[in-house]
Amino acid sequence: MLRYLTAGESHGQALVVIVEGLPAGLEITVEEIQAEMARRRLGYGRGPRQRFEVDELTLVGGVRHGRTLGSPVAIEIKNSEWTRSDKWHAEMSPAPGATLDPLTQPRPGHADLAGMQKYGFTDARDVLERASARETAARVAAGALAKKLLGTIGIGVLSHVIQMGPARSKSGVEGSRLPTMDDLAAIDASQVRCFDAAAEEAMIEEIKAAAKDGDSLGGIVEVLAYGVPVGLGSHVHWDRKLDALLAQAVMSIQAVKGVEIGDGFEVAGRRGSAAHDAISWDAATESYRRETTLAGGTEGGMTTGEVVVVRAAMKPLATLNKPTLGTVDIVTKEQTVSFKERTDVTAVPAMGVVAETMVALVLAAEAQRKFGGDSVAEFVRNAQAFDASLR
Ligand SMILES: Cc1cc2nc3c(=O)[nH]c(=O)nc-3n(C[C@H](O)[C@H](O)[C@H](O)COP(=O)(O)O)c2cc1C
Repeated sequence: MLRYLTAGESHGQALVVIVEGLPAGLEITVEEIQAEMARRRLGYGRGPRQRFEVDELTLVGGVRHGRTLGSPVAIEIKNSEWTRSDKWHAEMSPAPGATLDPLTQPRPGHADLAGMQKYGFTDARDVLERASARETAARVAAGALAKKLLGTIGIGVLSHVIQMGPARSKSGVEGSRLPTMDDLAAIDASQVRCFDAAAEEAMIEEIKAAAKDGDSLGGIVEVLAYGVPVGLGSHVHWDRKLDALLAQAVMSIQAVKGVEIGDGFEVAGRRGSAAHDAISWDAATESYRRETTLAGGTEGGMTTGEVVVVRAAMKPLATLNKPTLGTVDIVTKEQTVSFKERTDVTAVPAMGVVAETMVALVLAAEAQRKFGGDSVAEFVRNAQAFDASLR
């Protein structure tokens, strides 16, 4: 079983991720992981931290001469701010001591207050350092490995932004096509990671307007997985359903408040006759096809062999450059407004890369569960044999 665990705080020394269950012989380099992580920093409307932050990473274990050994892969991602700043050495020191500057005004829309109450903290930093989306950098590193594994059986995963605030892309709407893996470079080159040029312009205008007001924006990303074989996930038990696994994984991303598989919300308002993907036989590829993607490439909790479509809705960032959201000082109980902190206007483009990662990690885990294999060669052989059995 492929599984992974991250550790580390936003301004701590480093993030760490351990990925266990990868087959031996998977080719991977530090540069490939770094390239994936750099994609997470993309996007118009992000602040200086993204430019300063360099993901300096070390493959600590599990990889030898550019190939996995079948043992756990451990990756350390150093925090450049920790090295540069005495402030973070003092604030985040693991040695006994106390901060001179506790944060006693929990920020609304963040984990601060509920986390302080739950864990008995009096300094919001004890919560926010871990709740921060900096943690997703470690997930993206793990996702780079998952994507490499998926690539060995012809699966590719991409994401693109389809909504920024009120500005919505026409991608996927009748008459326009869905982006494919060949379009990924163009999507990454877009300032908002949008596939629709007209919508990209409108999205940038929305970001500029929100920035001027010291406000923030949320939005929606769409993740598409191509080349996914039939039969990942299962109908036999609730916690093996692929759509459910995808929903949990994507919902776990900081600030994601809605997940849709295919056109889940849209079809709820239709009649049954217009809400399902009809089945046909394609003699050329000797495979069953669905012409539409209404069910997002899943039926009964299993992949159908069609493109997997997952959408994630992100709430607007809760930290604003012009603080207006009310909060209370937990020491004085005085009503105040959330403290001012330099923050991004939106992180929807970056969230898309994280959503892509989470989908890749679920698909890789389920592909491993189905095809097994201690080596990549065995994994690929098993996948090919299953594919041949369907003809
Ligand atoms: C890639 C990414 C970057 C984020 N950057 C910020 C940010 O700069 N400022 C902010 O207030 N929230 C940011 N967030 C969202 C917070 O981490 C999130 O709202 C908070 O942890 C509360 O999580 P919840 O809404 O899921 O409960 C970001 C989220 C993601 C996925």
